[in-house]
Amino acid sequence: MTKILLVGPNGRMGRAIKDCVAKSNEYEITRELDSKSWKNAVEEKAKVDVIIDFSLPAALNDVVKLVESHNVPLVSGVTGYSQAQLQQIGKLSQKVPILHSHNMSPGIAWLRRVLSQVPIEWKTQAHLIDIHHKEKRDTPSGTAKTLAEDLGVSIEQISSIRSGSAIGLHSVIFSLPDEELVIEHRALSRNLFARGALQASLWIQNKRPGLYSMVDMFS
Ligand SMILES: NC(=O)c1ccc[n+]([C@@H]2O[C@H](COP(=O)([O-])OP(=O)(O)OC[C@H]3O[C@@H](n4cnc5c(N)ncnc54)[C@H](OP(=O)(O)O)[C@@H]3O)[C@@H](O)[C@H]2O)c1
Repeated sequence: MTKILLVGPNGRMGRAIKDCVAKSNEYEITRELDSKSWKNAVEEKAKVDVIIDFSLPAALNDVVKLVESHNVPLVSGVTGYSQAQLQQIGKLSQKVPILHSHNMSPGIAWLRRVLSQVPIEWKTQAHLIDIHHKEKRDTPSGTAKTLAEDLGVSIEQISSIRSGSAIGLHSVIFSLPDEELVIEHRALSRNLFARGALQASLWIQNKRPGLYSMVDMFS
């Protein structure tokens, strides 16, 4: 049974993780940390195998201290980090294994592998669409930024729509002479990301310190 410390248990993703854990006998959430329950959390060293973080970028300093004091792997799905915060995660990954992914779905991991095969002259013509629910804080989405980076295009090539309750849609459009290729991924439930994060929490446990992605996990 994998013992999980869950940061951000009350959010949309935190609730999806708890829902998936309740239906499984492979995982147990032994400690939850919401924004009000950090007092003594770093020092108390709960017995955990892995920390899963689906909170917000503002929690990063506390999460880093937590990971350092527990000395266990981190699976983070948080998006919207600044460059300095990403460097902070990179530095932490020299001490413990970290899987940080803007999208925990197998579909997006495979899409990223497909994009690595696309001819370079197609990539530079690519446009991206990112559609999410209206409460989403970061625009463009972390996934859209990752795909743009994979394609080598700027974030100006991303069109973002924030509307209704859309869980997450990403389209990559290649406009070619006399033809158009569209590859689209639609997330139909947050349990998709939760299952990916839980799978990652098993996968990461015997890894050396380093920064991993879902592409590594599904390779
Ligand atoms: N990688 C993926 O596959 C994936 C998929 C979906 C979303 N995400 C990302 O995951 C993150 C969470 O998404 P969401 O939709 O669940 O957001 P959400 O519903 O807004 O939930 C965020 C939660 O973070 C908590 N939080 C804020 N500061 C905290 C702190 N210092 N310590 C502990 N908890 C803290 C809040 O807890 P309180 O209620 O206690 O304030 C809130 O419940 C976002 O960055 C989002 O973009 C990633």
